[in-house]
Amino acid sequence: MKEYEYKVSAAGRINLIGEHIDYCGGKVMPAAISLKNTVYIRPNGTNYINLSWTTLPDKVSLDIDKLESYKGLKYGNYQAGAALMWQRAGHKIIGCDMLQDCTVPFGSGLSSSAAIEVSTIAALATIAGEPLNKVDIALKAQQAEREYAGVNCGIMDQYASACGKKDGVMLLDCNTLKCEYLPLRLGDYSIVIANCNKPHSLIESKYNERREETDEALRILKQKLNISCLAELRESQYKAYYSSLSQTVRKRVEHVVSECERVRVATLALKAGNMEMLGGLLNKSHASLKDNYEVTGREPDALVEAAQSQSCCIGSRLIGGGFGGCTISLVKSNCVDEFKEFTYNTYLKATGYKAEFYDSDVSDGIIIEKL
Ligand code: GLA
Repeated sequence: MKEYEYKVSAAGRINLIGEHIDYCGGKVMPAAISLKNTVYIRPNGTNYINLSWTTLPDKVSLDIDKLESYKGLKYGNYQAGAALMWQRAGHKIIGCDMLQDCTVPFGSGLSSSAAIEVSTIAALATIAGEPLNKVDIALKAQQAEREYAGVNCGIMDQYASACGKKDGVMLLDCNTLKCEYLPLRLGDYSIVIANCNKPHSLIESKYNERREETDEALRILKQKLNISCLAELRESQYKAYYSSLSQTVRKRVEHVVSECERVRVATLALKAGNMEMLGGLLNKSHASLKDNYEVTGREPDALVEAAQSQSCCIGSRLIGGGFGGCTISLVKSNCVDEFKEFTYNTYLKATGYKAEFYDSDVSDGIIIEKL
């Protein structure tokens, strides 16, 4: 890649616990991983961003003065959206060639879109000689996901993709954006990432629907309680005002309140190195995503059940937006191969889909290299 000037990458992410609470102002525990989107970039002296991919035959040229017109693109829309939000924030966009190399599987719940958006902005800022403010990049990338890609997401994915640190799990307060990095000491256990490989099409609309339900809950509860986000709701308060919510919205709130509490306990478990406790919380998180938040589905449930049925696995749950994608499991390190084999076979028998496993370490978020 000698002819390019910079190699700029941003990470995919896993999320230990704290699912579907980032947009409720909750604390979440993501970690950036070594699956990432890498952008090789060089200025080209034109008014275009020319995109190409290592893994796709497509070539796309984005006119810097018409960045709002590429929403319908199958590939290149995330880059266009990210560049547009950066431009709208007052940054100069320089015409350039960008070769994209994405190792985060698309639509897997490992935040390929955040990795693309964050690396695109970081690359544009780098060739413009701008100092990097990672939090600001994450916020503009989130805006691209919301306003350009149409997913009304929280900040977790873009923040983790930009600000992740090698060997650190993040304890990110999505209300204040304060972030603590905790060492990921798993003792005798390893995290296994498995993709259920079920294509999911309804994710955007279902995701936005959940957001609306939690917004509705907040609107109603705010009339009676002094809270600014659902994550501030205590269980006792919630129980007192239960009846003002519809049955469905109650279940959503129950998930949010209980998941916030699980994150609190998981932080203690991780700090104390109590993996069994952490594993139990992962299982409970999955059950709540399934029964209360209703964002799992036949295939993710089957994958999690196959994992949880094994004694070497102390916890397993679906991660990310839901309705498909990846699970994480806490597995005794000396049993990982057998675990994968049993999970693969059991899941295949139950669903007809072939699970895929990814080897990935915890990694830095944005990484910039001059070539
Ligand atoms: C998606 C969103 C995040 C978060 C998760 C669920 O990944 O982009 O903001 O809401 O779903 O925890």
